[in-house]
Amino acid sequence: MKTRITELFEIEHPIIQGGMHFVGFAELAAAVSNAGGLGLITGLTLGTPEKLAKEIARCHERTDKPFGVNLTFLPSLTPPDYPGMVKAIIDGGVKIVETAGRNPEQVLPPLKAAGVTVIHKCTSVRHSLKAQSIGCDAVSVDGFECGGHPGEDDVPNFILLPRAAEELTIPFVASGGMADGRSLVAALAFGADGINMGTRFIATKEAPVHQRVKEALVAATELDTRLIMRPLRNTERVMRNPAVERLLEKEKALGANLQFSDIIEEVAGVYPKIMLEGDMEAGAWSCGMVAGLIHDIPTVKELIDRIMAEAESIIRRRLVGIVGA
Ligand SMILES: Cc1cc2nc3c(=O)[nH]c(=O)nc-3n(C[C@H](O)[C@H](O)[C@H](O)COP(=O)(O)O)c2cc1C
Repeated sequence: MKTRITELFEIEHPIIQGGMHFVGFAELAAAVSNAGGLGLITGLTLGTPEKLAKEIARCHERTDKPFGVNLTFLPSLTPPDYPGMVKAIIDGGVKIVETAGRNPEQVLPPLKAAGVTVIHKCTSVRHSLKAQSIGCDAVSVDGFECGGHPGEDDVPNFILLPRAAEELTIPFVASGGMADGRSLVAALAFGADGINMGTRFIATKEAPVHQRVKEALVAATELDTRLIMRPLRNTERVMRNPAVERLLEKEKALGANLQFSDIIEEVAGVYPKIMLEGDMEAGAWSCGMVAGLIHDIPTVKELIDRIMAEAESIIRRRLVGIVGA
């Protein structure tokens, strides 16, 4: 399959693995790239330019296909060394960066000067247009269904993707709720050039997370996510568990008076405990509604091959069958 995204990133299949905190290590990024998609290391998880440089080297050892690094900008009192991370990316020979969280204007000049292709992930048409106007090469359009931060507009992909197609001239991928060949065909029908998946890639053999996280995704349904931190305008879609229910009770009780410090126990520093140790009730972890479509734990290659075969079959048999050859 050839789309503007496969051409832009020089990959075989139009499937990207979005940056994921404490999931997007070299093992997963390389597996996705080796299977013909685009794998991404999550820069923020590594935390320092030195550790990121080591992770990039580990990824180079595992694949000679293109892979990228996700740079997420989060509100923080002590922001990480972003210029240092940009340098580690460039020095490490990485040619693709996914930015997210806020306007990536500050990192574009050095990245562009080094010939790095930048895809910006955002949750609205207006932010997509902004990304296009400041020189991003592509956009990842993240609908309300997505795991992680869906923004505050709550526009699902059935509306968001065709709206993005109406306005954008640069290539874009559909993100949020993508799981299988049906998702890919639907995304292409809406005008996207491929898909970006987060949650689905966690339930794969190579994802370097505890087996209990993968099993929780297989067991979950589309009804098992919750939105947290809405009163702080930092909404996050997470898997429901007792810690999340506790957090939501605090949000309800405190209303507009809620401060980040009130919920710190449920959200700060919980990722290593959940992802690496499998302590599934340690706190809130990002998860998309797409959990309802996850029924197994294949290898990354099995997953990607299956998506491509299913998409082709839907297009060649079901769709052509409906309209007539
Ligand atoms: C566990 C988890 C952690 C994530 N961490 C990040 C992150 O650090 N930076 C980022 O840009 N996106 C992050 N995301 C969002 C994904 O990259 C992707 O946009 C999202 O998962 C797409 O929706 P889906 O889960 O329905 O596929 C995370 C998602 C999950 C499920």
